[in-house]
Amino acid sequence: MSAHAFAHPNIALIKYWGKRDRQRNLPAVGSISITLSELGTQMRIRPDADLSADQLSVNGEARDSLLPRVSACLDRMAGASRLPARIESEANFPLAAGLASSASAFAALVVAANEAYQCDQPQQQLAQLAGAASGSAARSLYGGFVELDKGDTDIELQCLAPAGDWPLAVVVAITEAGPKPVSSGEAMEISRKTSPFYGRWLEQQPHDLDEARSAIEGRDFERLAAISEHSCLKMHSVMWGSRPPLIYWNSATVACMEAVREMQARGVGVFFTIDAGPQLKAVCLPEHSAEVEKSLTQVAGVIETRRCGLGEGARITSV
Ligand code: DP6
Repeated sequence: MSAHAFAHPNIALIKYWGKRDRQRNLPAVGSISITLSELGTQMRIRPDADLSADQLSVNGEARDSLLPRVSACLDRMAGASRLPARIESEANFPLAAGLASSASAFAALVVAANEAYQCDQPQQQLAQLAGAASGSAARSLYGGFVELDKGDTDIELQCLAPAGDWPLAVVVAITEAGPKPVSSGEAMEISRKTSPFYGRWLEQQPHDLDEARSAIEGRDFERLAAISEHSCLKMHSVMWGSRPPLIYWNSATVACMEAVREMQARGVGVFFTIDAGPQLKAVCLPEHSAEVEKSLTQVAGVIETRRCGLGEGARITSV
Protein backbone atom coordinates (compact mmCIF):
# COMPACT_ATOMS: atom_id res chain seq x y z
CA MET A 1 0.00 0.00 0.00
CA SER A 2 1.36 3.40 -1.00
CA ALA A 3 1.28 6.17 1.65
CA HIS A 4 2.02 9.88 1.65
CA ALA A 5 2.87 12.06 4.64
CA PHE A 6 3.98 15.62 5.24
CA ALA A 7 5.98 17.09 8.12
CA HIS A 8 7.37 20.50 8.97
CA PRO A 9 10.81 21.10 10.43
CA ASN A 10 11.05 22.41 13.98
CA ILE A 11 13.58 24.63 15.65
CA ALA A 12 14.65 24.19 19.22
CA LEU A 13 14.41 27.13 21.62
CA ILE A 14 15.96 25.06 24.40
CA LYS A 15 18.52 23.01 22.54
CA TYR A 16 19.29 19.31 22.33
CA TRP A 17 23.05 18.76 22.25
CA GLY A 18 24.57 15.45 23.36
CA LYS A 19 23.50 11.81 23.50
CA ARG A 20 23.34 9.52 26.52
CA ASP A 21 22.98 6.36 24.41
CA ARG A 22 24.36 6.43 20.89
CA GLN A 23 23.05 2.99 20.01
CA ARG A 24 19.44 3.98 20.68
CA ASN A 25 20.07 7.65 19.84
CA LEU A 26 18.74 8.79 23.21
CA PRO A 27 19.39 12.45 24.03
CA ALA A 28 21.37 13.49 27.11
CA VAL A 29 18.99 16.41 27.68
CA GLY A 30 15.37 17.37 27.12
CA SER A 31 14.51 20.15 24.68
CA ILE A 32 11.71 22.56 23.71
CA SER A 33 10.95 23.49 20.12
CA ILE A 34 8.51 25.23 17.84
CA THR A 35 7.20 23.50 14.75
CA LEU A 36 7.31 25.75 11.69
CA SER A 37 4.67 26.13 9.00
CA GLU A 38 5.36 26.67 5.26
CA LEU A 39 8.64 24.70 5.14
CA GLY A 40 8.30 20.95 4.95
CA THR A 41 9.03 17.50 3.57
CA GLN A 42 6.58 15.46 1.56
CA MET A 43 7.30 11.73 1.81
CA ARG A 44 5.93 8.88 -0.27
CA ILE A 45 6.51 5.21 0.58
CA ARG A 46 5.51 2.37 -1.70
CA PRO A 47 6.38 -1.16 -0.52
CA ASP A 48 7.01 -3.32 -3.58
CA ALA A 49 7.60 -7.08 -3.63
CA ASP A 50 9.43 -6.75 -6.97
CA LEU A 51 12.25 -4.68 -5.46
CA SER A 52 15.37 -6.39 -4.13
CA ALA A 53 16.20 -3.49 -1.76
CA ASP A 54 14.89 -0.09 -0.68
CA GLN A 55 15.27 2.76 -3.16
CA LEU A 56 15.48 6.36 -2.02
CA SER A 57 15.19 9.57 -3.97
CA VAL A 58 15.50 13.02 -2.42
CA ASN A 59 14.20 15.93 -4.51
CA GLY A 60 14.14 13.64 -7.55
CA GLU A 61 17.71 12.31 -7.21
CA ALA A 62 18.86 8.90 -5.94
CA ARG A 63 20.57 9.29 -2.55
CA ASP A 64 22.06 5.92 -1.67
CA SER A 65 24.28 7.40 1.04
CA LEU A 66 21.20 8.23 3.12
CA LEU A 67 19.62 4.79 2.63
CA PRO A 68 21.16 2.93 5.62
CA ARG A 69 19.62 5.36 8.13
CA VAL A 70 16.26 5.35 6.33
CA SER A 71 16.14 1.55 5.90
CA ALA A 72 17.12 1.02 9.56
CA CYS A 73 14.22 3.25 10.59
CA LEU A 74 11.79 1.24 8.45
CA ASP A 75 13.21 -2.03 9.85
CA ARG A 76 12.62 -0.82 13.41
CA MET A 77 9.04 -0.05 12.45
CA ALA A 78 8.00 -2.97 10.29
CA GLY A 79 10.66 -5.61 11.00
CA ALA A 80 13.66 -6.60 8.88
CA SER A 81 11.55 -9.06 6.85
CA ARG A 82 9.26 -6.27 5.57
CA LEU A 83 8.86 -5.65 1.81
CA PRO A 84 11.47 -3.29 0.33
CA ALA A 85 10.07 0.11 -0.59
CA ARG A 86 10.42 3.00 -2.98
CA ILE A 87 10.85 6.09 -0.83
CA GLU A 88 10.50 9.53 -2.37
CA SER A 89 11.26 12.63 -0.32
CA GLU A 90 10.71 16.20 -1.51
CA ALA A 91 11.70 19.17 0.65
CA ASN A 92 10.94 22.80 -0.16
CA PHE A 93 14.05 24.18 1.60
CA PRO A 94 17.87 23.56 1.62
CA LEU A 95 18.94 20.18 3.00
CA ALA A 96 21.55 19.46 5.70
CA ALA A 97 22.30 23.15 6.23
CA GLY A 98 21.09 23.62 9.80
CA LEU A 99 17.44 23.95 8.82
CA ALA A 100 16.31 20.72 10.44
CA SER A 101 15.72 18.90 7.16
CA SER A 102 16.34 15.54 8.83
CA ALA A 103 13.68 16.40 11.43
CA SER A 104 10.92 16.92 8.88
CA ALA A 105 12.17 13.99 6.75
CA PHE A 106 12.17 11.38 9.53
CA ALA A 107 8.91 12.64 11.02
CA ALA A 108 7.24 12.33 7.61
CA LEU A 109 8.95 8.95 7.09
CA VAL A 110 7.56 7.30 10.23
CA VAL A 111 4.05 8.65 9.62
CA ALA A 112 4.07 7.42 6.00
CA ALA A 113 5.60 4.06 6.99
CA ASN A 114 3.02 3.58 9.74
CA GLU A 115 0.35 3.66 7.03
CA ALA A 116 2.27 1.90 4.25
CA TYR A 117 3.21 -1.07 6.46
CA GLN A 118 0.03 -0.88 8.55
CA CYS A 119 1.99 -0.71 11.81
CA ASP A 120 -0.82 1.03 13.68
CA GLN A 121 1.49 2.77 16.13
CA PRO A 122 0.23 5.66 18.29
CA GLN A 123 1.76 9.14 17.94
CA GLN A 124 4.03 8.81 21.02
CA GLN A 125 5.53 5.60 19.64
CA LEU A 126 6.00 7.20 16.21
CA ALA A 127 7.81 10.10 17.89
CA GLN A 128 10.15 7.62 19.62
CA LEU A 129 10.81 5.85 16.31
CA ALA A 130 11.54 9.18 14.58
CA GLY A 131 13.81 10.15 17.50
CA ALA A 132 15.77 6.91 17.18
CA ALA A 133 16.62 8.02 13.62
CA SER A 134 17.25 11.70 14.42
CA GLY A 135 16.74 13.18 17.88
CA SER A 136 15.09 16.40 16.75
CA ALA A 137 12.71 14.55 14.38
CA ALA A 138 10.64 13.31 17.34
CA ARG A 139 9.48 16.90 17.98
CA SER A 140 8.11 17.33 14.43
CA LEU A 141 5.41 14.75 15.16
CA TYR A 142 3.69 17.47 17.18
CA GLY A 143 2.62 21.01 16.32
CA GLY A 144 3.13 24.37 18.06
CA PHE A 145 5.36 24.45 21.15
CA VAL A 146 6.71 20.97 21.87
CA GLU A 147 8.65 19.57 24.81
CA LEU A 148 10.80 16.49 24.50
CA ASP A 149 11.42 14.94 27.92
CA LYS A 150 14.50 12.72 27.88
CA GLY A 151 12.64 10.14 30.00
CA ASP A 152 14.12 7.23 31.96
CA THR A 153 13.81 4.50 29.35
CA ASP A 154 12.75 6.43 26.25
CA ILE A 155 11.85 9.99 25.24
CA GLU A 156 8.38 11.39 25.92
CA LEU A 157 6.80 14.19 23.94
CA GLN A 158 4.09 16.66 24.72
CA CYS A 159 2.56 19.71 23.10
CA LEU A 160 2.94 22.68 25.49
CA ALA A 161 0.74 25.01 23.40
CA PRO A 162 -0.90 24.40 20.02
CA ALA A 163 0.27 26.54 17.06
CA GLY A 164 -2.81 28.77 17.09
CA ASP A 165 -2.66 29.53 20.83
CA TRP A 166 0.43 31.73 20.63
CA PRO A 167 0.99 32.40 16.94
CA LEU A 168 4.61 33.59 16.82
CA ALA A 169 6.39 34.08 13.50
CA VAL A 170 9.85 32.97 12.43
CA VAL A 171 12.10 34.56 9.81
CA VAL A 172 14.86 32.25 8.62
CA ALA A 173 17.89 34.06 7.21
CA ILE A 174 19.78 31.71 4.91
CA THR A 175 23.45 32.65 4.71
CA GLU A 176 24.81 29.53 3.01
CA ALA A 177 22.97 26.83 1.09
CA GLY A 178 25.52 23.99 1.16
CA PRO A 179 25.56 21.02 3.54
CA LYS A 180 27.24 21.45 6.93
CA PRO A 181 30.86 20.28 7.35
CA VAL A 182 30.27 18.05 10.43
CA SER A 183 26.93 16.33 11.11
CA SER A 184 25.19 17.15 14.40
CA GLY A 185 25.53 13.53 15.56
CA GLU A 186 29.31 13.47 15.07
CA ALA A 187 29.70 16.96 16.50
CA MET A 188 27.74 16.04 19.66
CA GLU A 189 30.14 13.20 20.30
CA ILE A 190 33.14 15.50 19.89
CA SER A 191 31.56 17.90 22.42
CA ARG A 192 30.74 15.12 24.88
CA LYS A 193 34.29 13.83 24.80
CA THR A 194 36.23 17.09 24.70
CA SER A 195 34.29 20.21 25.67
CA PRO A 196 35.13 21.47 29.19
CA PHE A 197 31.66 23.04 29.28
CA TYR A 198 29.70 19.87 28.49
CA GLY A 199 29.13 18.85 32.11
CA ARG A 200 27.74 22.26 33.07
CA TRP A 201 25.55 22.20 29.97
CA LEU A 202 23.91 18.97 31.16
CA GLU A 203 23.56 20.27 34.73
CA GLN A 204 21.83 23.51 33.76
CA GLN A 205 19.38 22.12 31.20
CA PRO A 206 16.55 21.31 33.69
CA HIS A 207 16.56 24.94 34.83
CA ASP A 208 16.43 26.25 31.24
CA LEU A 209 13.56 23.89 30.42
CA ASP A 210 11.61 25.05 33.51
CA GLU A 211 12.18 28.68 32.58
CA ALA A 212 11.03 28.24 28.96
CA ARG A 213 8.00 26.17 30.03
CA SER A 214 6.92 28.96 32.41
CA ALA A 215 7.48 31.61 29.73
CA ILE A 216 5.34 29.67 27.26
CA GLU A 217 2.63 29.07 29.86
CA GLY A 218 2.54 32.81 30.67
CA ARG A 219 2.88 33.81 26.94
CA ASP A 220 5.80 35.96 28.13
CA PHE A 221 7.77 36.84 24.99
CA GLU A 222 10.62 38.69 26.76
CA ARG A 223 11.20 35.82 29.15
CA LEU A 224 11.14 33.26 26.33
CA ALA A 225 13.53 35.44 24.31
CA ALA A 226 16.06 35.65 27.15
CA ILE A 227 16.16 31.93 27.93
CA SER A 228 16.13 30.88 24.26
CA GLU A 229 19.07 33.10 23.29
CA HIS A 230 20.90 31.88 26.40
CA SER A 231 20.33 28.22 25.48
CA CYS A 232 21.48 28.86 21.91
CA LEU A 233 24.65 30.72 22.89
CA LYS A 234 25.42 28.18 25.62
CA MET A 235 25.14 25.31 23.14
CA HIS A 236 27.47 27.15 20.74
CA SER A 237 29.90 27.80 23.63
CA VAL A 238 29.99 24.04 24.24
CA MET A 239 30.71 23.60 20.51
CA TRP A 240 33.38 26.32 20.38
CA GLY A 241 35.08 24.79 23.44
CA SER A 242 35.26 21.37 21.77
CA ARG A 243 38.46 20.00 20.26
CA PRO A 244 38.54 20.36 17.33
CA PRO A 245 36.29 23.42 17.71
CA LEU A 246 32.89 23.26 16.04
CA ILE A 247 32.14 26.64 14.54
CA TYR A 248 29.08 26.64 12.33
CA TRP A 249 28.68 30.43 12.01
CA ASN A 250 29.91 32.66 9.23
CA SER A 251 30.26 36.45 9.21
CA ALA A 252 26.68 36.88 7.97
CA THR A 253 25.40 34.86 10.95
CA VAL A 254 27.08 37.34 13.29
CA ALA A 255 25.84 40.30 11.24
CA CYS A 256 22.28 38.91 11.55
CA MET A 257 22.72 38.68 15.35
CA GLU A 258 23.74 42.34 15.37
CA ALA A 259 20.67 43.22 13.29
CA VAL A 260 18.47 41.43 15.85
CA ARG A 261 20.17 43.29 18.73
CA GLU A 262 19.59 46.58 16.90
CA MET A 263 15.88 45.77 16.42
CA GLN A 264 15.55 44.75 20.08
CA ALA A 265 17.00 48.12 21.10
CA ARG A 266 14.21 49.76 19.09
CA GLY A 267 11.55 47.72 20.89
CA VAL A 268 10.90 45.16 18.12
CA GLY A 269 9.69 41.84 19.57
CA VAL A 270 12.34 39.50 18.19
CA PHE A 271 15.03 37.07 19.34
CA PHE A 272 17.46 34.77 17.54
CA THR A 273 18.37 31.15 17.60
CA ILE A 274 21.01 29.27 15.57
CA ASP A 275 21.49 25.52 15.13
CA ALA A 276 24.31 23.40 13.71
CA GLY A 277 24.63 25.60 10.65
CA PRO A 278 25.11 29.24 9.67
CA GLN A 279 21.43 30.18 9.29
CA LEU A 280 19.88 32.51 11.83
CA LYS A 281 16.27 32.02 12.85
CA ALA A 282 14.58 35.14 14.17
CA VAL A 283 11.54 34.32 16.30
CA CYS A 284 9.21 37.32 16.47
CA LEU A 285 5.79 38.65 17.27
CA PRO A 286 3.65 38.30 14.14
CA GLU A 287 3.03 42.05 13.89
CA HIS A 288 6.80 42.61 13.67
CA SER A 289 7.61 39.85 11.17
CA ALA A 290 7.58 42.09 8.05
CA GLU A 291 10.03 44.50 9.68
CA VAL A 292 12.25 41.66 10.89
CA GLU A 293 12.32 40.13 7.41
CA LYS A 294 13.13 43.49 5.80
CA SER A 295 15.98 44.11 8.19
CA LEU A 296 17.52 40.62 7.78
CA THR A 297 17.21 40.75 3.97
CA GLN A 298 19.47 43.83 4.03
CA VAL A 299 22.25 42.12 5.98
CA ALA A 300 25.33 41.50 3.81
CA GLY A 301 25.69 37.79 3.10
CA VAL A 302 22.03 36.86 3.53
CA ILE A 303 21.12 34.92 0.39
CA GLU A 304 17.44 34.48 1.08
CA THR A 305 14.89 34.80 3.86
CA ARG A 306 11.85 32.62 4.55
CA ARG A 307 9.00 33.80 6.73
CA CYS A 308 6.94 31.14 8.55
CA GLY A 309 4.33 30.84 11.24
CA LEU A 310 3.93 27.96 13.66
CA GLY A 311 2.71 24.73 12.14
CA GLU A 312 0.97 21.46 12.89
CA GLY A 313 2.52 18.05 13.54
CA ALA A 314 3.36 15.42 10.91
CA ARG A 315 0.35 13.99 9.12
CA ILE A 316 -0.90 11.67 6.38
CA THR A 317 -1.76 13.45 3.13
CA SER A 318 -3.69 12.26 0.10
CA VAL A 319 -0.78 12.94 -2.33
C1 DP6 B 1 21.60 21.86 17.03
O1 DP6 B 1 18.52 15.89 15.69
O2 DP6 B 1 20.21 16.53 13.93
O3 DP6 B 1 19.59 21.31 15.88
O4 DP6 B 1 19.95 12.94 16.77
O5 DP6 B 1 22.18 13.00 15.70
O6 DP6 B 1 20.14 13.24 14.28
P1 DP6 B 1 20.77 13.47 15.65
O7 DP6 B 1 20.88 15.05 15.83
P2 DP6 B 1 19.91 16.19 15.35
O8 DP6 B 1 20.46 17.39 16.29
C2 DP6 B 1 19.85 18.62 16.38
C3 DP6 B 1 20.74 19.56 17.09
C4 DP6 B 1 20.34 21.01 17.05
C5 DP6 B 1 19.54 21.39 18.30
C6 DP6 B 1 18.11 20.93 18.35
O9 DP6 B 1 17.44 20.80 17.31
O10 DP6 B 1 17.63 20.72 19.48
